Amino acid sequence: MPILNSIAALHEEVTAWRRDLHAHPELQFDVHRTAGIVAEKLKAFGCDDVVTGIGRTGVVGVIHGRASGSGRVIGLRADMDALPLHEITGLPHASTVAGKMHACGHDGHTAMLLGAAKYLAETRNFDGTAIVIFQPAEEGEKGGEAMVKDGLMERFGIQEVYGMHNAPGLPVGQFALRPGPLLAAVDNFTIQIEGKGGHAARPHQAVDTILVTAQIVIAVQSIVSRNIDPLKNAVITIGAFNGGTVGNVIPQTAELRGTVRTHDGAVRDFIEKQLKHVAETVASAYGAKATVVHERVVPVTVNDPAHTPHAADAAALVVGDAGVNRDTMPIMGGEDFSYMLEARPGAFIFIGQGDTAPVHHPAYDFNDEIIPIGVSYWAKLVESRLPA
Ligand code: NI
Repeated sequence: MPILNSIAALHEEVTAWRRDLHAHPELQFDVHRTAGIVAEKLKAFGCDDVVTGIGRTGVVGVIHGRASGSGRVIGLRADMDALPLHEITGLPHASTVAGKMHACGHDGHTAMLLGAAKYLAETRNFDGTAIVIFQPAEEGEKGGEAMVKDGLMERFGIQEVYGMHNAPGLPVGQFALRPGPLLAAVDNFTIQIEGKGGHAARPHQAVDTILVTAQIVIAVQSIVSRNIDPLKNAVITIGAFNGGTVGNVIPQTAELRGTVRTHDGAVRDFIEKQLKHVAETVASAYGAKATVVHERVVPVTVNDPAHTPHAADAAALVVGDAGVNRDTMPIMGGEDFSYMLEARPGAFIFIGQGDTAPVHHPAYDFNDEIIPIGVSYWAKLVESRLPA
């Protein structure tokens, strides 16, 4: 594997940064310690500019190449936030904060991009500008959108943007991506059902909210199977059904909560409309009322077909052609890097993390073995997209 000596030499140092971040996880926009460390290191590396507070707690570093004739500007993004889980790894660098842990490897993403920033600021072997982007609140509170809305792309003149996520189950030394939709749009919904409460022995004098809610669950599950083109991807899961307290009372109200995952804007729009229609009309058929609140969390993560090969080629420079799956299966998880890919063309890539616990699991830990591979990917991407 052609890892540059100068990047291999950073392995121990970047691992120490990663483990320190791991021991001190922070959630959503509340990543003050992490963002402070990132900004301090970017300044120490000699970045030409370091800007904090973009998208509330996001940090951006500007690194000019040895030459600037190309006028080209490329954005590289990492996420900084952890998850509200209690870590059970028992590792020496395990979380020191009860109920919070880096269970998605964003500690590793941040450390690898810092490593790349250090290398790029030292070598500057490119023509143009590299912008390193550290975003908060990837886990559901739309930190990516917050940075874009705060003028990230315009302010730094970013022309194309790239992101990377570790992938448990993908062997170390492999990358995977695809042109087009890679991760799903995520929508969450709540359905409030109101029937007519009453005595369990006199259902004819009530409207049975539990029965109506059960019918809505079943009817909603016909949307994907009967209304969506079988060749398109969609998932609707109802993960919470809350109603009633005791066996001999028909409750007045009940509530369903669920999520919708899609890879296509038209399918997404249709499901939002149909979910509301089905819930309302099924409830109405039984004399009850359903109220649907639908929240769009993140859009589809779409890799630009013209830019995906640049990411794949950079990965191949690190791990060889055989190490890059250029047509991986899309997945139904979501990513708020999608907001950056809506603003500028670019690509998101998965880096193999080997056979570890899955992300969002309390036994998960980022695999430090992949640090030189990830740092090299960022370095090669900049040097190949902005050749000196
Ligand atoms: Ni993640």
